[in-house]
Amino acid sequence: MVAGMKKILLYGPPGSGKSMVGRYMAQSLNLSFLDLDDLIESKAGMSIAQIMTERGETAFRIMEAEALGEALQGRSHLIALGGGALLRSDNRRLAESAGKVICLAATLDTLTSRLQADENSRPLLEGDLSKKLRALLAGRGEHYESFQLCFETDRQTPAQIAWRLQITLGRFRVNGMGNGYDVLVEPGGLVTLGELLREREVDGSLVLVTDSNVGPLYGPRALESLRKSGYDAEVVTLPAGEPTKTLETASWLWQEFLRAGLDRKSTIIALGGGVTGDLAGFAGSTFMRGIAWIGVPSSLLAMADSSLGGKTGFDFPEAKNLIGTFHAPRLVLADPEVLSTLPEAEFRSGLAEVVKHGIIADKDLFDLCSKGHETVQGSLPEVIGRAIAVKVKIIEEDPYERGPRAALNLGHTIGHAVETASGYCLRHGEAVSIGMVAEARLAERLAVALSGLSDRIASVLKGLGLPTEIPANLSRQTILQSMKADKKKAVGVIRFTLPVEIGRVEVGIAVDDLNLVFQEK
Ligand SMILES: NC(=O)c1ccc[n+]([C@@H]2O[C@H](COP(=O)([O-])OP(=O)(O)OC[C@H]3O[C@@H](n4cnc5c(N)ncnc54)[C@H](O)[C@@H]3O)[C@@H](O)[C@H]2O)c1
Repeated sequence: MVAGMKKILLYGPPGSGKSMVGRYMAQSLNLSFLDLDDLIESKAGMSIAQIMTERGETAFRIMEAEALGEALQGRSHLIALGGGALLRSDNRRLAESAGKVICLAATLDTLTSRLQADENSRPLLEGDLSKKLRALLAGRGEHYESFQLCFETDRQTPAQIAWRLQITLGRFRVNGMGNGYDVLVEPGGLVTLGELLREREVDGSLVLVTDSNVGPLYGPRALESLRKSGYDAEVVTLPAGEPTKTLETASWLWQEFLRAGLDRKSTIIALGGGVTGDLAGFAGSTFMRGIAWIGVPSSLLAMADSSLGGKTGFDFPEAKNLIGTFHAPRLVLADPEVLSTLPEAEFRSGLAEVVKHGIIADKDLFDLCSKGHETVQGSLPEVIGRAIAVKVKIIEEDPYERGPRAALNLGHTIGHAVETASGYCLRHGEAVSIGMVAEARLAERLAVALSGLSDRIASVLKGLGLPTEIPANLSRQTILQSMKADKKKAVGVIRFTLPVEIGRVEVGIAVDDLNLVFQEK
């Protein structure tokens, strides 16, 4: 069993929501779902209640073990188990070797009220429900708590629980552009790249586009994984860094694709940071009017932000990100372990986009970031998963940036201008960090936000080692001119995305008097 194909097994006491949550997750992730009790009933040709009354619990447990073995061998990726299915240690061993077991938990009161509203008959709980349930929990409490992944489900809807589980598991699916695509956060997942491609029936020739820093570090691991799954890939290596992101490089990529004999069935794999992803995605979106591409982001910025949403492009001398395409990837695989070699300054730059996502829609993510660099380093899969979750929701709602997607521009209207004015001496994330603080100050001046928000944001960014003030040597005039040239201006007015509070932003705020941006406090 490979990481990409591992099953997700939902377990827990009756009433914990395994079946409902499983159905939501299956729908959201486009996975096939199986309820183990349904399988047992269809194999036996009678209901669980009948099996219990007519054949007894021992016979039921034997049937359950058989059904579990069958389900774990079967095609369903998401399985809801019965509340006692893993009491037998051999069942538990089997389940844990086939996938991730998640134990859903809830208080006695929650379980009781959910079961009272449930019409399914539960033979083990017949009679005084609350009393029976208390006895069942007393007997199995330790067993349920012994699972590594335990989830409280009180006061949440099945949809909310399912979404939280997806964040914890690092599994998302983006719909709304192309045929939809999976986004996976999988520590160590790079070695499963080939299997993930096979799973998705990727066929045809492959080109791995990477850069001169990332290629030597991770190219061999990616190629080995592809080879093990029967793929052969040509490697094209770009010089590392932002100056590479030009039309000339895109043109060179097209030549390399022709040389490698790519056709319309071919797939490009972009292994690298945002520059590699943007350029390889752009070259792929235009080559033969668009061929498939897969994102394997290797920088924090690319994992949390740039690899998602299908925006591709190159730097145009007059203004950044002015020209490009929307071209959805076929898969995005983020392996947080590769961040161990990312230079510190690049990591910090990526943190700015993570904080941005916290400000836009996830206060818990912002609070996590406020605990500082070490805490963030120690919780990378969660940090990346949360940042991705924010972006996924937004790009699904507005794939082609016609409205709400502008939320993601937080910090970018001023940030891009500062980045351009610095002659790209500032990293993208550093400029966004400065932009977020400047825009939060603007929000306070316009009474969009309460005073104090910009200080709070600045303090978290500073704590992560990011700059928060426009460097004194940058001309305010150049910054203003650059903002006017920015693509976000609409009919002469620049529209900002401004923070209202942590976890909420407002988009499309027109600001006529740009001098407000530089007004002293
Ligand atoms: N398409 C979008 O929606 C979108 C969104 C945000 C930003 N972007 C773009 O992303 C780009 C910035 O991305 P970036 O910060 O990843 O830049 P980058 O690709 O230049 O990577 C930064 C540096 O880190 C190196 N690197 C990357 N991963 C590494 C690893 N695991 N180990 C060692 N070195 C590694 C790279 O070689 C490079 O030198 C900008 O061009 C920006 O415009 C695009």
